[in-house]
Amino acid sequence: MIKILFFGDIVGEIGRDAFYKKLPSLKKEHNPDLIIVNGENLANGKGITPHLYYELLDNGIDCVTSGNHVFDNKDIIENMDEYTRLIRPLNYPASVPGNTYYQTTIKDTSVLIINLLGQVFLPPIDNPFHVAENFINDNPSDIVFIDFHAEATSEKKAFFHYFQGKVSAIVGTHTHVQTNDADITNGTAYITDVGMIGAKNSIIGMKPEPVIKRFLTSMPERFAPPKKDEFCILNYTEITVEKDGKAKSITPFSLLIKNELG
Ligand SMILES: [Fe+2]
Ligand SMILES: [Fe+2]
Repeated sequence: MIKILFFGDIVGEIGRDAFYKKLPSLKKEHNPDLIIVNGENLANGKGITPHLYYELLDNGIDCVTSGNHVFDNKDIIENMDEYTRLIRPLNYPASVPGNTYYQTTIKDTSVLIINLLGQVFLPPIDNPFHVAENFINDNPSDIVFIDFHAEATSEKKAFFHYFQGKVSAIVGTHTHVQTNDADITNGTAYITDVGMIGAKNSIIGMKPEPVIKRFLTSMPERFAPPKKDEFCILNYTEITVEKDGKAKSITPFSLLIKNELG
């Protein structure tokens, strides 16, 4: 049995602080074989820097997935191929820098991790269904774990129904709000969205006022995570998978962490 902990989008300093504060006790509690984190919002809510990537690795994170914000902080792009545990969505054009998968062996079991972007309500990108299917067929592995970074619940559900029985786990990210639909069908664990690690008093991790202003005026606004908030939401999901790749359990968690920043 392989136990995987997956942490959804960590948003800014307030999210990082709550994550690193709680991580040691969560490692003791779950004793995971593999820890995966979505890092697309680590740097002030948008993108990831080399420093923040290495900070994750120094804290025992095995693989960092991403999404539509992966290139927002330009510092990450130059040496992107060197960050072997950071994966960008597989369905960008092949010429785009960065690693597209992470493969490892745990307890004599091969594990493949990939990340895909949805097409609905997101900028144009290759079809995630076809790209994922071709890649999995060309790179067989005992356990296949997919972070499907997408906006529409319908697209995520369709992805789950199409790939159930073919992969071990599909976790949704990007919407930052944890959904109440964890499921296992035909040995595939699924949740529409794992949810974020970010400020409680926020709109998906960002200060509410500029977001509300944009909805009221339709004018551009600069969004950023709040520097201070009383509480941070820490969402994550534990998944166990047999060595044959069949998921056995999926358990989402949502904790409130008292913030000590500022
Ligand atoms: Fe995100
Ligand atoms: Fe996203």
